[in-house]
Amino acid sequence: MLNIKKKRVLSGIQPSGDLHIGNYFGAIRQHIALQEDNECFYFVANYHALTSIQEKEKLEDATFKVALDYLALGLDPQKATLFIQSDVPEVTELAWILSNVTPMGLLERAHSYKDKIAKGISPNHGLFAYPVLMAADILIYDSEVVPVGKDQKQHLEMTRDIAIKFNHVFGETFVVPEELIMPEVAVVPGIDGQKMSKSYGNTIEIFADYKTLKQKVMSIVTDSTPLEAPKDPDKSNVFALYKLFATPEETEAMRQKYLAGGYGYGHAKKELLAKIWDYFAEARERREHLLQHRDIVHDVLKEGAKKAREKAREVMERVRSHCGILRFNPDA
Ligand code: ADP
Ligand code: TRP
Repeated sequence: MLNIKKKRVLSGIQPSGDLHIGNYFGAIRQHIALQEDNECFYFVANYHALTSIQEKEKLEDATFKVALDYLALGLDPQKATLFIQSDVPEVTELAWILSNVTPMGLLERAHSYKDKIAKGISPNHGLFAYPVLMAADILIYDSEVVPVGKDQKQHLEMTRDIAIKFNHVFGETFVVPEELIMPEVAVVPGIDGQKMSKSYGNTIEIFADYKTLKQKVMSIVTDSTPLEAPKDPDKSNVFALYKLFATPEETEAMRQKYLAGGYGYGHAKKELLAKIWDYFAEARERREHLLQHRDIVHDVLKEGAKKAREKAREVMERVRSHCGILRFNPDA
């Protein structure tokens, strides 16, 4: 039988708030699907989140919840490795080492840094060095494929530049990773019709309680076409969201109702609400169970950390030896 080597896939998820439907269709779903045929490492990027969350409880809570939600949504710890970034502290050591082959100009050109400055966020070193830590996250596990959204494309290119530069200066050390930009099909609109994003306050959370979910779905912005009139499904946010959850037949049925008239946005919203609620029903149950048994989540994270750290230590030995960083402490 042909033995196809599984690829090492890695991605990080920032714990910056409750996960929403945009995150699900734009990232989480693909992450989970990749566990079937690859060796996946997924981690909660809590060191990165320090650039935006500087409240102890908030960061702790958000970190745990990302892990909880991934498990609830189908991440299988038998297939994929899930861990918290800070459980592999070697990554910050590598970030320092990489800093020394990272030109200032490269970091100064980073869109996400420039965007944040433009928004009036006062820059600190963490924000500026963010892409170097991200490069360390990727390179420390010999990652081959890094599935990210379009917004992270530049960070990945920077990672590749840093790896190539390091290999040039110190000799072949790092695997230069490929990117895998997750498909654009899934740009999920928010309740105001713009791209769904925490920063626009237009999100529908995956695990919102029913009352909140209903309130959010009912407030999706629609135009003022009267109930009796035919409506263009392709201009409707409600329809765009419904399509994500429904089967092709159900989608077609709703399309026909829009076109026929006599079907109001209120009706469509009710159907959407039922679909979202059902779609995540199983995940919601699993999540409730895990919330009652947090130890299960903790154990998964402990195991994940062990596995990830083992790999990171191996790569760090290679890195230190290639650049002449000596160590005499046997416990380090
Ligand atoms: P937010 O914009 O809410 O801060 P993040 O930037 O943390 O979301 O996104 C995490 C992941 O989810 C990224 O891979 C991103 O591409 C994806 N994602 C976020 N919002 C959407 C959306 N509306 N449609 C598709 N993918 C999205
Ligand atoms: N910067 C990524 C984001 O905001 C999160 C992240 C951190 C990441 N380290 C990573 C993604 C390594 C992929 C690989 O979405």
